[in-house]
Amino acid sequence: MARCYCRWRNLLICVCGPCICLALLFIYVAVMLCLSLNSTGMPTVLNPLHFVASGTFSNGSFAPLPKTFWEFHLHGNAFWNRLQLAIDRHFNPILRSKNTKKGFESSIVNDSLLRQSFSEVTNLDSTRRDFYKLPELMRDFVVHMNRRDYPVLLHPDAVCGAGAKDEREPPLLLLAIKTTELNFKNRQAIRRTWGQEGWVAGQRRNSSRGKADGGYVRRVFLLGKENPQELGVDVSHLLQLESKRYGDILQWDFSDTFFNLTLKDVLFWSWFSDVCDQTRFVFKGDDDVFVNTPRMISFLQDQLRKPQADKAMNDFMVGDVIGAALPNRVDKSKYFVPDSFYKGIYPTYAGGGGVVYSGLLAKRLHNVSKRIHLFPIDDVFVGMCMVRLNTHPIHHPAFLTFDFPDKDEEKLCAYHRILLVHKRSPTQMVKLWADMKKRQIRCWGVPLRAANKKENKKKL
Ligand SMILES: *[C@@H]1O[C@H](CO)[C@@H](O)[C@H](O)[C@H]1NC(C)=O
Ligand SMILES: *[C@@H]1O[C@H](CO)[C@@H](O)[C@H](O)[C@H]1NC(C)=O
Ligand SMILES: *[C@@H]1O[C@H](CO)[C@@H](O)[C@H](O)[C@H]1NC(C)=O
Ligand SMILES: *[C@@H]1O[C@H](CO)[C@@H](O)[C@H](O)[C@H]1NC(C)=O
Repeated sequence: MARCYCRWRNLLICVCGPCICLALLFIYVAVMLCLSLNSTGMPTVLNPLHFVASGTFSNGSFAPLPKTFWEFHLHGNAFWNRLQLAIDRHFNPILRSKNTKKGFESSIVNDSLLRQSFSEVTNLDSTRRDFYKLPELMRDFVVHMNRRDYPVLLHPDAVCGAGAKDEREPPLLLLAIKTTELNFKNRQAIRRTWGQEGWVAGQRRNSSRGKADGGYVRRVFLLGKENPQELGVDVSHLLQLESKRYGDILQWDFSDTFFNLTLKDVLFWSWFSDVCDQTRFVFKGDDDVFVNTPRMISFLQDQLRKPQADKAMNDFMVGDVIGAALPNRVDKSKYFVPDSFYKGIYPTYAGGGGVVYSGLLAKRLHNVSKRIHLFPIDDVFVGMCMVRLNTHPIHHPAFLTFDFPDKDEEKLCAYHRILLVHKRSPTQMVKLWADMKKRQIRCWGVPLRAANKKENKKKL
């Protein structure tokens, strides 16, 4: 009896073992085949979580974003894609279900995972070989991209940007402006014009709402450091004097280069999350744009008055939105990103000069940015963070990245109808501001600029 049982067991192991293995293999192959067929069939919604933008529908609205971040598709072997894949593996819901349960934003993850995934990838021989094929600037970026903890050199004097005196309510808007040590003229023009801090009245017809149509504005300039050797002179003491006088300088100890601009976003979010608890909105922009701040204030107040405004603030980001852009492959451009570094389309992002978003979103961006490797183009990096938050910026035609179309600028109230225009020199800013003040009464009630048909076509 015992012998017979034994024989049966052996037979079972010998025959059924391989059968089960084969069956499993078959199921695996079938599933993988199915999945890959599925995804090649729908190129427009293809894995945006590898930062292939979900792209636009032919009617101009944006495709919905996927709810999952884990993606089995390997997107080539471009350096950045490989890095991001390595960190994504840490959040793979199948391998590590705990991480995902806690959700994207509220987990305990910090820089160490970024570092870990970075060394995982860079220790591979194939990565090392490819590294030397990257252009020199890109190599410099890669060598330093793992570091974000640059110390602060200069702080603003008030807790959250300059201009906290006599405020009776939390600030409505913080203007966070990217600038460089040498652009003193731009900063000075901004301080005197659209960047004035304190109470700013909104731009609308006199209404019974009175004071509710304004808000407190604060200001902070975001800077890295010039390289004194390259410049031949050390200008840091001038900036210290400026900081003492105006109290609106936030400077970190990294070189102020184009590829380092992303650090300003990341470090700004970190600073903001620490000290700007109550601030409702952030405008982040360059120092060569002109912003119609009163109009911006009214626009933001309108957002707060909308039904379910609190919920909308989770994702609120408005600007000139670019969908389904391709990386620049012209190697003389400052935006050049070779396909050995990044493959795929860019995510939907707000480009060109300036964008406004909620303070709450700034904090969420701070959280989520900790699991995305730095990308050399700052606006694109912000777009990547938005994708990871399962959202995207909203386009508004009153953000004029490429200046006024046709002869619109010559119209009397042209500047009252916009929120932002790029680009304006310091002298132009001062003149525009004065002109706007002069025309204020006549232009007070004009509506914000809407898209015309021609522009809609261009966007598609
Ligand atoms: C655009 O097209 C998509 C898909 O066909 C549709 O869901 C969406 O509602 C459309 N948007 C507008 C503004 O018509
Ligand atoms: C709005 O009110 C102010 C003073 O209260 C007045 O000077 C101004 O002319 C009014 N503007 C309009 C457009 O009515
Ligand atoms: C960014 O700043 C760091 C620190 O100053 C510097 O070493 C690095 O070269 C900079 N990166 C780029 C791409 O300029
Ligand atoms: C950011 O993460 C921290 C913990 O890591 C969490 O307490 C906080 O609620 C998160 N903030 C937002 C706005 O998601």
